[in-house]
Amino acid sequence: MSNIDLPFKRYTITSALPYANGPLHIGHLAGAYVPADIYVRFLRLNNRDVVYVGGSDEHGAAITIKAKKDGTTPQAIIDRYHAQIKESFAQFGISFDIYHRTSERIHHELSQEFFLNLYEKGEFVEQVTEQYYDEEYHQFLADRYITGICPNCKNEGAYGDQCEKCGTSLNPTDLINPVSTLSRKPPVLRETKHWYLPLDKYQPWLEKWLLEGKKDVLKPNVYGQCRSWLKSGLQPRSMTRDLDWGVDVPLEEAKGKKLYVWLDAPIGYISATKQWALDTGNDWEKYWKKQADPADDSCLIHFIGKDNIVFHCITFPSILHAHGEYILPENVPANEFLNLEGDKLSTSRNHAVWLHEYLEEFPGKQDELRYVLTSILPETSDSEFTWRDFQARVNNELVAIFGNFINRVLVLSHKYFEGKVMPAGGLTDTDRFIFSELERYPKHIAASITHFRFREALAQFMNVARLGNKYLADAEPWKVIKTDEERVKTVLNVGLQIAANLAVLAQPFLPFTARKMTEMLRLDKCDWEQAGNSTLLPAGHQLGEAQLLFEKITDDQITAQLAKLSTAVIDSKEPTVELVDAKDPIEFEDFVKMDIRTGEILAAEKVAKTKKLLKLSIDTGIDQRTVVSGIAEFFAPEEIIGKQVAILVNLEPRKIKGIVSQGMILMAEAPDGRLEFVSPQSAMRTGSVIR
Ligand code: MF3
Ligand code: ZN
Repeated sequence: MSNIDLPFKRYTITSALPYANGPLHIGHLAGAYVPADIYVRFLRLNNRDVVYVGGSDEHGAAITIKAKKDGTTPQAIIDRYHAQIKESFAQFGISFDIYHRTSERIHHELSQEFFLNLYEKGEFVEQVTEQYYDEEYHQFLADRYITGICPNCKNEGAYGDQCEKCGTSLNPTDLINPVSTLSRKPPVLRETKHWYLPLDKYQPWLEKWLLEGKKDVLKPNVYGQCRSWLKSGLQPRSMTRDLDWGVDVPLEEAKGKKLYVWLDAPIGYISATKQWALDTGNDWEKYWKKQADPADDSCLIHFIGKDNIVFHCITFPSILHAHGEYILPENVPANEFLNLEGDKLSTSRNHAVWLHEYLEEFPGKQDELRYVLTSILPETSDSEFTWRDFQARVNNELVAIFGNFINRVLVLSHKYFEGKVMPAGGLTDTDRFIFSELERYPKHIAASITHFRFREALAQFMNVARLGNKYLADAEPWKVIKTDEERVKTVLNVGLQIAANLAVLAQPFLPFTARKMTEMLRLDKCDWEQAGNSTLLPAGHQLGEAQLLFEKITDDQITAQLAKLSTAVIDSKEPTVELVDAKDPIEFEDFVKMDIRTGEILAAEKVAKTKKLLKLSIDTGIDQRTVVSGIAEFFAPEEIIGKQVAILVNLEPRKIKGIVSQGMILMAEAPDGRLEFVSPQSAMRTGSVIR
């Protein structure tokens, strides 16, 4: 259509490949799938040549850590979750042309081909460095397998690649007192060789292509992140890893090493396209490679969440650029994060709305969730899903406005005219106004979609439904029928044209509902081109049966979801082990008898011939004393020196293994027995009172 801003004739659309290490939740959907699906459906309605690819990301520490946690193999993990994710997407109506997986051979081969292409061009910088190695487990430790103290904010649970508390991106060697998550022991440094992508070398090119070339194209949240990355200066990034799960590095001298997951995963978009082309007899290269005439190039768009921006705007484009034969992304419309009921979505805390559970608990209500998620997409900043809001939007908007209007028009048409479209007679000003609005809206909706403003697009769509609902309410055909049947024919004709337009316009957003509507209206031509037309349903056209589009979400349904959410959070803390029961109440006077203070560990050593005991020397602020503590299984003596702890100083001295222990260190104990110090969030003067 002429006035639609889709300048390319071919489109290659991708959604981030989710890790196959857990089920999908609404955060995934709002980030990279619902918007992409709206966009793709819109392209198809406009008869553009489009391939929409997705698949599971089956490599990297995300998978091996999950396998270890579940006491199973990475293969078992990916097989289980790939199948589940694929099924959920299909049921939810995410219209991938292919949903592939990175464990497929075709993907391993293509990833190796990419690596060798760059290797042979001499792009990689080879470097031998010292990296952390776990001597007990005989393996190098991936970033996520090392924890320690963040050098920036002193958070104790920082990972080798990032401190999640202050957000700083780290290298494993930046951590203070690093510990292997495998053996819980401090790792040692060992030499190893790796192949680095020289991002510093590509920096000038990236500045030109991205900062200059995409200033008005990228969304501000995406552009801002890229600018700050480039501003702080890019460093070479290793494209290989010492791991035993992933794509083999195709070099003799790199035996046993794997490709970095962020090298192979985005290549998964290409291998998925290759597989799709094989399956359907298409030419995959048209969708990925530069064409003889640049005007024939496909338009590549990556839909992702904001945590993936750097990989899609900097790393992957650098790889494509270094390779040379591939097109670069036109745009990367990344979304911010979706929160749930006032808190971050969290897989580990089970604070989420899981797609497979939603599909089971709300059968046939895919569009209700699509509608609500689209209404609240975190397009420019983080946004929030709450069950009450879900209920309100479904009941007050989908049921009361959209569904109500469609139902009325159809039911009245059947009641008065046996389900036939009557010719429109003399038009009133209102009728003409309606027709001009019908003509106007599709252009606006199209412009919003092509600019990745899906919330706005959906709001305009709902305005058309509102227009219809109000038109019918004002025209009151159920009253007029008693006196002026001719007028009712016109009113229902106008109403049905609105309904038919809604059926066309609903397709990108609410595909299941749109389908029902085209059946009800017996509408067979529903390309986007039809939108705006006020004679979509010709006089004499026979309509199908009226069916209800939406039903109200009940309070009970919402209460059940909220209850599930709060127990989920408690359950998930230790899914297999019970928390200890609450103790009997005590008097306040009993509590204040305890003298608890902040102390500092000055020295620590193992108590000979014991497994659990450490002998600690503690500065309590009032004195220096010895405390015997049963923490040796969890902490090496050298790693706790200097730590601030909470100490009960007025506990009667006790003799333990021949040593007089003067006081007790307070520890938090997880149900599985793991211990952690209780200490102030930031350093306090030694001897400060805790109460
Ligand atoms: N699996 C990654 C994540 O969930 C996304 C990978 S996107 C791809 O964050 F481009 F690498 F495929
Ligand atoms: Zn930090």
